[in-house]
Amino acid sequence: MAKNENVLEVKNLNAAYGEAKVIFDVSLNVKEKELVAIVGRNGAGKTTLLKNIVGLLKPVSGSIVFNGEEIKGIPTYQIAQKGLKYIDQDKKVFSELSVRENLELSSYAMNDYNLEKVMEYFPKLETLMDRQGVFLSGGEKQMLMIGRAILGKPQLLLIDEPTEGLAPSIVDDLVKTFKELKNETAIVIVGQNLSFVSRVADRVYAFKEGKIVTEVTGKEDIETANFDKYL
Ligand SMILES: Nc1ncnc2c1ncn2[C@@H]1O[C@H](COP(=O)(O)OP(=O)(O)OP(=O)(O)O)[C@@H](O)[C@H]1O
Ligand SMILES: [Mg+2]
Repeated sequence: MAKNENVLEVKNLNAAYGEAKVIFDVSLNVKEKELVAIVGRNGAGKTTLLKNIVGLLKPVSGSIVFNGEEIKGIPTYQIAQKGLKYIDQDKKVFSELSVRENLELSSYAMNDYNLEKVMEYFPKLETLMDRQGVFLSGGEKQMLMIGRAILGKPQLLLIDEPTEGLAPSIVDDLVKTFKELKNETAIVIVGQNLSFVSRVADRVYAFKEGKIVTEVTGKEDIETANFDKYL
């Protein structure tokens, strides 16, 4: 793929739950190795947007192009196999299984085996290999979720609320992780943590009531933008 090409291009996406419309004509793009944040308040439709992109919900209309290919209508597991990985908001890991088993299960499912890479990003996970998912802290679960997603070579990670409920020191660690991860994959994070966003994002979409209301590019502009004003 040529540099600066869009990894993801969403055009005029509309989404609803039955009669209730939630996403209105959303268009956005993500370039290679770019970290894009979508910020919005509770109920703005951030999770709904991501679920429609990865095929967990069926969009009403619009197009979703990943790596030059229309993926609307393709089952979620196939989208994941193409290199678009989704990490949901609920930090669901298999609670009965150990960290190792959680990782192995994803390996088998996706044919992705690069456990060494996961350990490089999250050395802490190595010490937790035999711990059951149910005993992991929020931060450890988040590491495991991201670890599972990067076992292979994802081209794009969509991460719903990566910092929700995490202690500030863990958030600091995640800042570092994301800055490193960005060297090999494009990332979209959605959330409400504006200070986190301003530390990691290359570009930010402000999202209100199912619509993109503004877009800010560049570290300085992002740091000084008053996103609250838009949300
Ligand atoms: N399964 C569902 N059925 C009907 N309405 C839903 C469903 N899930 C979400 N909604 C509604 O869609 C709207 C958007 O919800 P969504 O979860 O996408 O928001 P969000 O921006 O992710 O919020 P949060 O920051 O709280 O995670 C809300 O009004 C919500 O009540
Ligand atoms: Mg949400």
